[in-house]
Amino acid sequence: MSERSTLPRLKDLCPIFRVGVSCLVLTLLGGYVVSGIHLRNHAQGRDERPGFTLDDVRAAYHGISAPSTLRRAIKEDHPQDLARTDREALLAWLDSDRISEDYDNLDLGDEAPAEIIAASCLDCHSRGSENAGASIPLEYWDDIRPLAFSRDIQPTPNEIIALSQHTHAPAMAMVLLIVGGLGAMTRWPRALVGVLMAAGGVGLLADMGAWWLAKDNAVWVYVIVGGGIAQGASVMAMGLLAIVDMWAPGGRSRADEGG
Ligand code: HEC
Repeated sequence: MSERSTLPRLKDLCPIFRVGVSCLVLTLLGGYVVSGIHLRNHAQGRDERPGFTLDDVRAAYHGISAPSTLRRAIKEDHPQDLARTDREALLAWLDSDRISEDYDNLDLGDEAPAEIIAASCLDCHSRGSENAGASIPLEYWDDIRPLAFSRDIQPTPNEIIALSQHTHAPAMAMVLLIVGGLGAMTRWPRALVGVLMAAGGVGLLADMGAWWLAKDNAVWVYVIVGGGIAQGASVMAMGLLAIVDMWAPGGRSRADEGG
């Protein structure tokens, strides 16, 4: 192996060519940002909760099966001084299939869940409360709804994962190979480009593999997220390093190295 790589330096290419390459790299990075936003918007409803969290990824690749938080708390004697009839009325409501309809059903009078909750829970569970339960407000239906229902979210079926992977895996691997190649043609330290390339490659492989492994074991959800971040950051960083290198003045170009 020769001491120096025989790859051309980006800086040595003619300026008009570098304009083209820079525009293409910017387009690529812009596409990555748009994909990231699309992924977020697309995935954020998966866990039936607002906002994009780890649970959305968990729901998509592993599924989520969680009993109703409200039911569990009430069942486990919380709050301790709740009247027995009120506890039973709340449990009957949560076990029914009319959770939304009966929440503030006027026909139920004082036994309506909204009435029981207002009388027995809001001392602690309202936003302004000085008591410790204020972090879980139960004032409005919108507060209660996410806690009232059990969740049983099925993971994305294998055929859809395969469909998604058959377009994503080759495309993302090609993108990494190309920005990695550009990175290798810059004046940046090889160790830096090397670490970025390794992070991107390992990240992408781990991400793609974990799509399948997460189905059985939710621990792989962290690998999906970690690998995805690693490969995305690697593409971004190498793309930006290549653009900076193409236009930054000075530095040693290959011709000056005498090598
Ligand atoms: C004396 C104060 C108090 C009252 C009254 C009270 N709670 Fe709580 N509740 C708490 C505290 C404190 C927590 C724990 C808060 C936290 O983790 O930040 C809690 C937690 C909860 C949780 C979350 C449990 C979990 O596992 O995450 C639910 C659901 C809940 N309460 C429902 C109710 C309901 C329904 C009522 C009325 C029937 C009620 N609470 C009445 C103080 C109260």
